[in-house]
Amino acid sequence: MGQLEGKTAVVTGGSSGIGLATAVRLADEGAYVFVTGRREAELEAAVKTIGADRATAVAGDIANLEDLDRLYEAVRARGQGLDVLVANAAIGSFMTLEQTTEEHFDQTFAVNARGTLFTVQKALPVLNDGASIVMVGSPTRSRRPIMPNPLVGNRGSPWCRPVPLSRTWMTSRPAAARILTCTAEAERACLRTLVRPS
Ligand SMILES: NC(=O)c1ccc[n+]([C@@H]2O[C@H](COP(=O)([O-])OP(=O)(O)OC[C@H]3O[C@@H](n4cnc5c(N)ncnc54)[C@H](OP(=O)(O)O)[C@@H]3O)[C@@H](O)[C@H]2O)c1
Repeated sequence: MGQLEGKTAVVTGGSSGIGLATAVRLADEGAYVFVTGRREAELEAAVKTIGADRATAVAGDIANLEDLDRLYEAVRARGQGLDVLVANAAIGSFMTLEQTTEEHFDQTFAVNARGTLFTVQKALPVLNDGASIVMVGSPTRSRRPIMPNPLVGNRGSPWCRPVPLSRTWMTSRPAAARILTCTAEAERACLRTLVRPS
């Protein structure tokens, strides 16, 4: 018997990459998994990979609050609450400071910061006691005051590029994921931790 038998999980961005691998693992441990993403064909393929009897696809954009409402309505309609939320969906076309446009900045923050925050906030009413929220971030910290070389990826200061900046608010340490355990009583404390940049 898997460790998550009888549990329900949501994985945003569960149609590819780290999100899909996570969804497969959660289902292998016995969880029923809701996966989200914007592209429906990829989502349907993901459900086949995870197992059609163990997963539901809910197409949507985490930057769209109505789409998030539809996602959690589907979870609510299943009637078993939510035990694991993996807030994984993000976008990341890296640009140098010189290349950064207003549109790139706004889109990056709409998904990575605003979308992730509301993914968590809107999950709170359906969380079961002892539920876990896993926030997938990026290692973006550096002691360097400015990025000396635009080709060095995550090294260098996050503060002058939208993608690392949009991820830094939720990763206070250079770790790829931050795990927070919520009980119903701890929901507010948990949310405070999530929104406070460190
Ligand atoms: N891969 C790495 O080396 C790496 C390193 C550090 C951190 N990370 C973090 O790991 C996470 C996953 O990365 P990945 O490499 O696995 O990415 P990926 O393969 O590009 O997958 C991203 C997933 O998120 C979905 N997605 C993107 N924007 C979305 C939106 N607005 N609304 C809903 N779903 C959306 C995508 O589906 P659609 O496009 O169909 O929406 C896709 O399923 C991200 O949070 C990323 O920042 C990755």
